[in-house]
Parts: sequence; C-alpha cells; structure tokens
Amino acid sequence: MCGIVGYVGEREALPIILDSLKRIEYRGYDSCGVFVLEDGEPKLHKDAGTIDHLKKNLSESEYKGKVAIGHTRWATHGAPSKKNAHPHLDGKGEIAVVHNGIIENYQLIKEELLSLGCKFVSETDTEVIPHLINLSLKKKALLKKVSSEKFDWQLKEAVREALACLNGSYAIIVAAKGFDGLIAARKESPLIIGVGDRENFIASDVPAVLEQTNRVIYLEEGDLAVVKKESIYIENGGAEVRREGRLIPWTIEDAEKGGYEHFMLKEIHEEPRAIMDTLRGHIAEDGINLGIDFKIEGGAKGRSILMVACGTSYYATLCGKQIIENLAKVPVQVELASEFNYSDFVLDGTNIIAMAITQSGETADTLMALKKAKRYGSKTVALTNVVGSSATRIADETIYMGAGPEIGVAATKSFVAQLVIFYLLGLSLAKMPESEFVGYLEELKRMPQIAQIVLDEANGDIQKHARYFSKYEHAFFIGRGVNLPIALEGALKLKEISYIHAEGYAAGELKHGPFALLTEDTPVVVILTHDNVYEKTLGNVKEIKARGAPVIAIAEEGDEEVEKYVDAVIRVPGTSAIFSPIPNTVALHLLAYWTAKERGCEIDKPRNLAKSVTVE
Ligand code: F6R
Repeated sequence: MCGIVGYVGEREALPIILDSLKRIEYRGYDSCGVFVLEDGEPKLHKDAGTIDHLKKNLSESEYKGKVAIGHTRWATHGAPSKKNAHPHLDGKGEIAVVHNGIIENYQLIKEELLSLGCKFVSETDTEVIPHLINLSLKKKALLKKVSSEKFDWQLKEAVREALACLNGSYAIIVAAKGFDGLIAARKESPLIIGVGDRENFIASDVPAVLEQTNRVIYLEEGDLAVVKKESIYIENGGAEVRREGRLIPWTIEDAEKGGYEHFMLKEIHEEPRAIMDTLRGHIAEDGINLGIDFKIEGGAKGRSILMVACGTSYYATLCGKQIIENLAKVPVQVELASEFNYSDFVLDGTNIIAMAITQSGETADTLMALKKAKRYGSKTVALTNVVGSSATRIADETIYMGAGPEIGVAATKSFVAQLVIFYLLGLSLAKMPESEFVGYLEELKRMPQIAQIVLDEANGDIQKHARYFSKYEHAFFIGRGVNLPIALEGALKLKEISYIHAEGYAAGELKHGPFALLTEDTPVVVILTHDNVYEKTLGNVKEIKARGAPVIAIAEEGDEEVEKYVDAVIRVPGTSAIFSPIPNTVALHLLAYWTAKERGCEIDKPRNLAKSVTVE
C-alpha cells in the first residue's frame, strides 16, 4: 500500500534507494519515483510503471547525492501516471514529500492553497503537503535566510504545522533543498528508521533496510523525526521522546528469492519451515507457551474469543474458530474487520478476548477493529508476523507467528503459520486427558514433514493438473467443516494471481443455487480428505459430476474409492481430520501458483493489488 524510503549518509544514495524500493515493491507497483539532493540541489525522476522500468530510463551518474527519498505507489487518489507518481514537490521544486496513506481533507486544503496562488500538477492528495510546508516556511520568511541549524528547526516546525492541518493517515518523508537530513512522520501508517553507522535509513517496512542494517526503530503514532547521518531526533506532541532500537531476527536471504522464480513459490516452499519455526517459538519443555494469559472458563457464561481479520487471514481465522471450538470447546466469533468496524457492538466487551489476526500487523481495517474492541473494554491480542508492527502496539498482548518475512503479495506461509497458532491455542485452552493432549501435540509436530511431503510428492501432479485447469475462466472450490475455509482460501489464491473467477463454497450449498452455473467449463476442486462428513462430500461430488462439471479432488494417499468419481486427484498424506487443513492448503497454494504461471501472470505483482492494505 505504497512503499516509502529515505537515505542519509556518506554513500551514494540513489542505488540504496532503488534497491530498498525494489525490496518493498510488494507494497505497490503502479508508478514510482526518486528525489536526490546533490550538494543540496534537488533532482527528481519519476514515472508510471515499476522500479525496473524507472531504472531503465535513469542515468544513475546524473543523480549523485548522499540524501534521497523514493516511493513505489499503489494508487488511491489519481490514476497511476507520471504526474501522480511521488515524490511531490512544492511550487518551487525545493521541498519533496513521499507519502503512504490518505489525506481525507485534501480537497478543502487544495482549494485554499489554490486561492493563495499555489499551482498543482497532480491529482493526488499528497501534493498539498509540500505546499503546506512551503507556506509555513514562507510565513516565517526564513527560507535560506538563517543559519543551517535554525533552518533545520524551522523546517521541522513547518512540517509539524503542515501535518496539523491534515485529517487522515500518513507516513511521510520530507527532503528539502539546503537540508542535510530527512524529516519523517507517521500517523496510522507504518514507518521505521534503520540505524546504520554514520548513515540512517527510513522505510515503510523492514525488508527495505535489511540489506543495510538489522537495527530498527519503530516510530510510534504521532512521532516526528529529524534524521541525519549521525543523529536521530524524535519528538511527539512537541516534546522529545526516546525510542529504543530493536534487533530484527530476519536475514537478507529471508527477504530474497533464493533461486526461486517468484517470491510466492519460495514462500510456499517455506511453509514447512514456517510451521516448524512457529511451533519452536511456542513449545517449551513444559508444554505450550503462547506468552499470553487467556484465562477462559469456556461455556456461555465464561469469556469467549472474538477474532477480527481480513482476506487470507480471515479465512485462516474461520478455520481457527473450528479448531479452537473443537479442541477447547471455547466459543469463538469471527468477524471481517471491515464489517465489524461499522456494525453494532452487542457483546459485553469486558467478557471477551479480542484477537486481531494480521500477517503484516498494519492492515487498516484490522487495526481499527482492534481499537474498537479495546474501546468496548475487551482484552486485546494481536496475532502477527511482524515484530513491532502497529497491531503489536495497539494490542495489550501479542502472539508472533514465525513465518519470516512474507514478500509475495499473495499470503501463503503466513496462512499455515496462523493455523499453527490456532492449534496451539486450542490445545492450550483444552481440558482433555493428558494422553489425548500428547497425541494431538505429537501430530502437530509432524506437520512440517506433512507439508514437505506435499511439496515433494504432489508438486509434479499439481503442475500437470494446472496445465488443463488454466484453460478455464470459472471454477468452484468446495469443502466442509474445517476444510470449508481452506476451500475459500484456495479460491481466493487462484483468483488473485491467475485472474480466473473462482468461488469458494460449502460443499453442501452448491445445490442451493450455484448448481445453475455448473457446466463442462466450470471445474470444481473438492477437498475430500477423510473426516466425519467424507461420505456426504462424496455425495456432493456425484451430484456435481451428474451436471457435467469436471472435478479435481484433493484426497489422501491410499483412497482409491475417490478415483471412481472424479476426473483428477491431487494426493496428500493422511492426517487426523483436524490437521488436514495443513496439507490441503499447501496443495491449493501450489495449484494456484502453477495455474497462474501457466497463464503467464505476474505472480508476485497481481494487478490492482498490494501487500499490506493500510487504507480502509
Ligand atoms: C491475499 C492476501 C490478503 C491479506 C489481507 C490481510 O493473499 O494476502 O487477503 O491476507 O490483506 O493482510 P494481513 O494479514 O497483513 O492483515
């Protein structure tokens, strides 16, 4: 959802900025730009298209300088075009701003600025910011007429005054002619400072700076920072504040493709490791340790869990509900964050543990939902993959999954890592005989191998099936029980990266309407691993076949019966029904990947999408 970066130090800034932008291109890739200060003199280059495209038309030798900012965009206000690409400048071209977020009152501000004679070149909300900063500086009539120290202070004050006019959300970085540093500020959009040796980095996301440093400061809500090569000053509400740096455990290799053609394929192949690392992080000598005191009594009168999430995380959460209710008999209510935010809160908030499930920890809808639950008195817990992300700072407590950096826009390994947390949560809340508990835990610990078997043994077949599956334009994914959310996830993954229209459905529901859509051109992917409703689902398959639709089944090794009724089978290793979502998910992620690859799609950059949706 737009990536912004900044550099100030002793090295040439442009290659660092371009490399950092490339590393967070998953945040947006419809246009981009850079602004470099060469001996204090500004140089701007921007265009529609990707970072690679920008680089092609950019002679790096002409953009020398040790201070620079950059932006990769996911359009909100104004179409993706050169003029709307960031950085945006004030009228004189001396103040440059990159911005992630949405300025809600920009239209009013723009009208005011126009009446004062400001000239606008873009349709964006962002462009009002450099104009406001310039105006504020002008009011002080100090631009270039003061010592550099005073100018720094005046510039910081001017940024502060400009920000005070804005409603909405922003993470911004400001560079200005004659200023040997950068100014950064955040409100409801993520921003970090990478701390180097005689150099500092600013970015929306950690992977942007990992090549350079592992030491990171997370800016807090309302922070404004003046970042120079040897100093970082941070204030909040006008007063200086201290923000501790954290060492990020990720390596640069974690954030690179490592020989895979796409991040998505690499990350699917990392699913066994994501499961393993998530387990390792929470299984101690004496049992499961999620680091949270849930204290749930269970039953209608006791506390219950409310979970809010979006997209893939929402589907993982729907699966989590069934896992927790099955293992722990604790009621779990799951809400789409974007719906929850504008619905009536009819529960007793004080009797609820509200969990926000979010890989990035930055999804705007989910953060809003978390805040709402907090307002209603709930204890709040974030389940996230990103250390120090906004969700962790809003929630009372945090559970980390151990998926490692997820770069592919389509979430994959974070999904299985979320499932692992739900198993652990369900088991830790369960009141079951010790032997039963140990049995579940042992099987859970085998899940990395189970996922690996799918990767090793089913991948070839899935590639083969993807070849014919890719010819269709519509598909259904069906499942029941704990595998219904997996069918929803399979459909989402397919549609977002291959552009095949896919619908996830409860297997028993197709006959209540969607049957009308079944033809020989509408394949149905059915999750048919063994559970208490296997026979019922098989019955649904027969009904579907009778309507002429091709059927691909995901079925267990050794289940020969299924061959009689379907057109193709993807084999996964057998597990207890409750753990079957793990192998089934890996298979469906591979199916989506290979189908999209067969169709020649831009897998890591699906059209119109971006990772980390930081706008409502
Ligand atoms: C789809 C996908 C999205 C995200 C959603 C929530 O593959 O990745 O649907 O799951 O935007 O993101 P997080 O989990 O970061 O809150």
